[in-house]
Amino acid sequence: MELLLLADPSEDKIRSYLSGSRCFVASSGAVVVGACVVQPRGKDTVELMSIAVHPAHQKSGYGTALLKWVIDFYRNAGVRQLEVGTGTFGYQLAFYQRHGFRVTSIDRDFFVKNYPEPIFEDGIQLFDMLRLALRYPGHVD
Ligand SMILES: CC(C)(COP(=O)(O)OP(=O)(O)OC[C@H]1O[C@@H](n2cnc3c(N)ncnc32)[C@H](O)[C@@H]1OP(=O)(O)O)[C@@H](O)C(=O)NCCC(=O)NCCS
Repeated sequence: MELLLLADPSEDKIRSYLSGSRCFVASSGAVVVGACVVQPRGKDTVELMSIAVHPAHQKSGYGTALLKWVIDFYRNAGVRQLEVGTGTFGYQLAFYQRHGFRVTSIDRDFFVKNYPEPIFEDGIQLFDMLRLALRYPGHVD
């Protein structure tokens, strides 16, 4: 939970999607340093609900290794599409796009409508959520 709160400030929201999700962790020796939660969405789509690495271990490659592992896991599982929602700016957007995620839509005012307090990153208020998807090759829409 401590890790997941880094990616989503609402514990209630995290708890609401934890059951029914699969949780992946990255560890350094016996210490869990990163976590990623993925939820099924229909027949052949899954959504990455959260990914976080402990601040003391960020920028060391754990997040990239964890994301790659999750992408490969669902490719091998035969999933058609891995989705994620994120803010409209910041390094997280590049983090996903680097791995092949493409923007599919904008959920306007998502962060205002779904959280009781305004959320700021780098001093900028988050309003809209970008929806991204990684489409695995080999599937016919
Ligand atoms: C997003 C996150 C999981 C990435 O994990 P990580 O272990 O730091 O990732 P990596 O070390 O593999 O680095 C991936 C890229 O992100 C960049 N990055 C990571 N943390 C950063 C930060 N705080 N500020 C700016 N860039 C950052 C890295 O520099 C790297 O980019 P580069 O390849 O151009 O150098 C992690 O930073 C995190 O937990 N952030 C807070 C929670 C969050 O925002 N989760 C995503 C919700 S949408």
